[in-house]
Amino acid sequence: MRSGSRLTRLVLLSAAVAWLSRLSPWFCSFQLVHRCFLGGPGQARTLQRLAQVRGDSSRTQMREAPLRHDLDHTTSMREAPLRQKLDLDDRVRVGTLDLPRLGIGTISWGLRGFGGITDWLERTVLRQAGAVNSAEAVVLASLLKGVDFFDTAERYGNSFSTAIGLGYGETEQLVARTLQDVSMSAVVATKFTPTPTRTTVESVVEACEGSRQRLNVEKIDLYQIQMPDIVQPFARIPGAPEEWSKPKDEIYWQGLAECYKRGIVANIGVSNYGPTLLRRAYAYFKSQGVPLASNQISYSLLYRNSGAQKTVDVGKELGVATFAYFPLAMGVLTGKWKSDDVFRVGPVGEPTNPEHSGKSTLEQTEIAEYAKQSFQLLKELERIAKARGKSVAQVSLNWIICKGAIPIPGARTPGQVADNAGALGWRLTSAEMASLEAAADQGGCEFSGAGFKRCNSKFVGYGYEEWALE
Ligand SMILES: NC(=O)c1ccc[n+]([C@@H]2O[C@H](COP(=O)([O-])OP(=O)(O)OC[C@H]3O[C@@H](n4cnc5c(N)ncnc54)[C@H](OP(=O)(O)O)[C@@H]3O)[C@@H](O)[C@H]2O)c1
Repeated sequence: MRSGSRLTRLVLLSAAVAWLSRLSPWFCSFQLVHRCFLGGPGQARTLQRLAQVRGDSSRTQMREAPLRHDLDHTTSMREAPLRQKLDLDDRVRVGTLDLPRLGIGTISWGLRGFGGITDWLERTVLRQAGAVNSAEAVVLASLLKGVDFFDTAERYGNSFSTAIGLGYGETEQLVARTLQDVSMSAVVATKFTPTPTRTTVESVVEACEGSRQRLNVEKIDLYQIQMPDIVQPFARIPGAPEEWSKPKDEIYWQGLAECYKRGIVANIGVSNYGPTLLRRAYAYFKSQGVPLASNQISYSLLYRNSGAQKTVDVGKELGVATFAYFPLAMGVLTGKWKSDDVFRVGPVGEPTNPEHSGKSTLEQTEIAEYAKQSFQLLKELERIAKARGKSVAQVSLNWIICKGAIPIPGARTPGQVADNAGALGWRLTSAEMASLEAAADQGGCEFSGAGFKRCNSKFVGYGYEEWALE
């Protein structure tokens, strides 16, 4: 009787996992690691090592959820033989952090399944039943490649509440949970979101404390302000006092400085700041004796104008590192869009490129347009990639690295991580760089994002709020 009900539970659980695996391409992550990443002669040995890393004892230990720093001593022994060591040229100092010259973006990790149901099932029922975490394969793939830096934000997640700004931290929790599950450490950067209701220094400290708890660390490695204070609903109300729409950037800077001084963050950064605001923030933090470590902006072969290149240059002058988001123009610069294929237009809403994508139809439709406008650049990327024996994504990311910025490409699968990590270990020549830039200029396309993900505007319920780097 008892074994019958256990069998029923097992069958139901398997059915749930199979169903969810259709929703989430990362589910059953070992299968994916096996298929996308670990094939070849070393496969059996590597799988054995992975099994060691994921030993049952470590899982039990992780369930107790100790602070990550408590784990460092024990985990370093276990992970030592696994990680690929990056060349010194492929590592860079940002504030107190020793980072790879390429990180991993986590924005698409949370976009799974029906407004949060998949995430909820995963972190409750399935986790208790011992199923692997859906981000595990991606995290393992990056750590094995020596890429031990993840960028997240309190606003990344998949529930409806997160999307409209009422919920926080789903992806932060997913990152922390996954690092615990694989018993490995990594640098994790997160972000504070300016909102009309966050009006005080203490509101920044509170938000930071929330992120710190969700990330399960003593100190956040890098705490960034996600964007200038552009969400100003009162500015649209005729007659509302100007005072109500005064940007709170300086209050947020004070808040960040306070977090730093209280020792709950190790480094601070900003994001979506153009040259002028970056200089102002830098001067403010300097006056407080707090080093500004980084600025995160959209920067790629398809987004160099509109103030992006100037921002990178000012960052260099001030000693503030630039992290490049949208480095692959949400897939345009990865090789999945072929130069001789982009004009084969499908029915409205259908991607012209048949390759699998996690992007929404809305996003894919816009991405297809960008790809068309960039066909000269795609041609040049393909030419250089072929001549160098690299992939298009690797050439695109390498261009950013050569420019002195740190790309943080988003990755949905271990295969994408492995491909993107191949941007490290070599450099384009200046002639190749120049020909890529010339090809990009020919198309004249500036990639400002797709769907609701934009680098110069934000959908905030009552409409779009905009900003510019210049
Ligand atoms: N500070 C900010 O305001 C801000 C704003 C946006 C993003 N970010 C950060 O920047 C990170 C990167 O941005 P993003 O993920 O939106 O854009 P992205 O890095 O330009 O594009 C990532 C997407 O390209 C595809 N891809 C990645 N590697 C690939 C490969 N090797 N081959 C084929 N396809 C590949 C995947 O999409 P498919 O689903 O099509 O496979 C992936 O989701 C984010 O994760 C986030 O951490 C910050």
